[in-house]
Amino acid sequence: MKKTKIIIGLVIIVLLIALIVAGVIIINTNKSKEVNENNSLITNNDEIKSSNENIDNNKGKTSKNIAVVYFSATGNTKEIAEYIKEEANCDIYEIVPKQKYTSSDLNYGDNNTRATKEQRDKNARPEIKEKIDVSNYDTIFLGYPIWWGDVPKIILTFIDNTDLDEKTIIPFCTSGSSGISQSENTLKQYKGSVNWLPGKRFSNSSRKDEIKNWIDSLNIINNSQENEEEKVDAGGEMNSMNEFIIEVNNKELVVKVEDNSSSKALIEKLKQGNITINARDYSSFEKVGELGFSLPTNDTQITTKPGDVILYQGNNICLYYGTNSWNFTKLGEVTNVNQEELKNILGDGNVTMTLKSKE
Ligand SMILES: Cc1cc2nc3c(=O)[nH]c(=O)nc-3n(C[C@H](O)[C@H](O)[C@H](O)COP(=O)(O)O)c2cc1C
Repeated sequence: MKKTKIIIGLVIIVLLIALIVAGVIIINTNKSKEVNENNSLITNNDEIKSSNENIDNNKGKTSKNIAVVYFSATGNTKEIAEYIKEEANCDIYEIVPKQKYTSSDLNYGDNNTRATKEQRDKNARPEIKEKIDVSNYDTIFLGYPIWWGDVPKIILTFIDNTDLDEKTIIPFCTSGSSGISQSENTLKQYKGSVNWLPGKRFSNSSRKDEIKNWIDSLNIINNSQENEEEKVDAGGEMNSMNEFIIEVNNKELVVKVEDNSSSKALIEKLKQGNITINARDYSSFEKVGELGFSLPTNDTQITTKPGDVILYQGNNICLYYGTNSWNFTKLGEVTNVNQEELKNILGDGNVTMTLKSKE
């Protein structure tokens, strides 16, 4: 009897221990569930945060008044146009020929192919399938392949039939090796009241970051966040974007540029090569000479100080060693010499100024 009581007691104790152990396991399981749930909440919050950041990143980049308009026969220009669209976050339109160009149409080794004949005919205006309405845009990236060193005639069809008055147009092209300048000259003959910005040629191996840098340098996208990033990055790559060199009488003058579209356009031009200016002395306060092309202007009434580099009438560069008040555009100022040194370097008469990128 006593033995039976002891066994029952032992069984009860074992059962109690089993119940306690089970209870502990259940509590722990629930706790770890809570931890997991909390973790996934944190993950979700992070996702929400990062998606908000994406929205913020794109904020101010949406460029409602910018469009990319391009023609591409074999897809190279199309690829660059798509990158520009992505970077500028803007609309895009393809100039589609009514009669598609076949590969034999494009054989430019043959004098009798369609593209070759069109390029030789100054009146050729190949028809566009559908009219492109750009009336809502004030800035247009206009893209095309180089054909025989120039714009394909279908681009002139677009220009002839589109009201581009007062719009800013930025040409871009792809080519085997030819540059963009001949095509830019052709475009400018066809529309007088357009604000043409310097164009850019891309090769077939051009990468996205080259396009990004180019678009940033144009300063046409209102993106305060990017501007802040540029200021933070003051010591690095941006320095070469913010400065250029004027070589004169074997001395290098370092010019720190103003933050405006005129100096950005000049920096872009300098990436394509040095610019030599034959400058004359004017009124004992400046050396002035023609650039040989036009830059966008940002004219305001300025009283110059020695060292100021000024854009006059869009196509003259003035380097001041004295003062003058006029309505023109400041491109930058010389930072590495003082007034007296500058006057000595420039001398009295004509000088040759070579504008160079700062590498
Ligand atoms: C009819 C024709 C003429 C061309 N002429 C030139 C030229 O003068 N210089 C050059 O560098 N490339 C020339 N190319 C090559 C194209 O400019 C180059 O392949 C371009 O990237 C094609 O762009 P797409 O694919 O957008 O049509 C020519 C191509 C064609 C079809």
